[in-house]
Amino acid sequence: MKVLLTRPLHAFAVKELRKRYDVQLHTRKIPIPKKELISKIKDKDGLICYPYDIVDKAVIDAAPRLRVISTYSVGYDHIDVKYAANKGIVVCYTPEILTRATADLTMALLLAVFRRIGEGERLIRKGRWKVIFGPYEFLGTDLYGKTLGIFGMGRIGKAVARRARGFEMNIVYHTRTRLSGYEEKRLGAKYCGLNELFRKSDVVSIHVPHTRATNEIVNLKLFKKMKKTAFFINTSRGKIINEKDLVFALQKKIISGAGLDVFSSEPISANYPLSKMDNVVIMPHSGSSTVETRSEMAEICVKNLVLALAGKRPIYQVNI
Ligand code: DGY
Repeated sequence: MKVLLTRPLHAFAVKELRKRYDVQLHTRKIPIPKKELISKIKDKDGLICYPYDIVDKAVIDAAPRLRVISTYSVGYDHIDVKYAANKGIVVCYTPEILTRATADLTMALLLAVFRRIGEGERLIRKGRWKVIFGPYEFLGTDLYGKTLGIFGMGRIGKAVARRARGFEMNIVYHTRTRLSGYEEKRLGAKYCGLNELFRKSDVVSIHVPHTRATNEIVNLKLFKKMKKTAFFINTSRGKIINEKDLVFALQKKIISGAGLDVFSSEPISANYPLSKMDNVVIMPHSGSSTVETRSEMAEICVKNLVLALAGKRPIYQVNI
């Protein structure tokens, strides 16, 4: 069987694949240009792809032998999963293993905006630290007693709630299906409507997947409901936010700041408005990027593919 990888993966993972299949590894431009993907996938049985590879109808139609798409990500909004399912193609992904790393980065961004970590770093590195320790020097905000609003209480949302409890924050949440009373109690989280969540929170963190229903669901209307002192965190997908509205809300001081790991189009440049704002902490889409997690993702991604190509149930299959 033939397998295409749109980018080199960990050596141990590629080795596992080479033991079993005829592997074609795309090593040039990343993301693989669409034309090249369409041409390379023609005779493939399996595909390993990444969150920026758009696997749409055109790609699927170009691959009459394709049986499995295994993405190296928890998000699968880059794959037309319905169309794949109609064609009998199994789509696999890598949830669970990246929950902790992504929740950790969410907290890192939250702490960074509350305590102005990026600003402080830049100040010193530019040689602008002139005044030592004073009552009004470099004031941040306490996490203690503040309200964190979690939009999307899935695995990652819950992991963020558990971490935020350690910082003695109050937690409110909004999600498609309300948690059981038992789970709410365990997490110390109170359910509320979306508008209320934006109104009440000192910081809102996004943990819903990007779907047609959540596309740009966070817009100026919601930002306007937030407190002027509130912060906004996103480690999910950039397209859930109307990014122009976010820029506007930050520029006009409708909200206080933001911590962002994801953007509507990636990578962003140093000239991008969000890159230039002092009250914004930015990361290059690294939620799951730890040595341990990325390696486990490679392992699961390959196991998923191998199992599904053997006609067995993969560890994590996207169910639609
Ligand atoms: C994912 O797995 O979808 C993440 O966005 C990658 O960090």
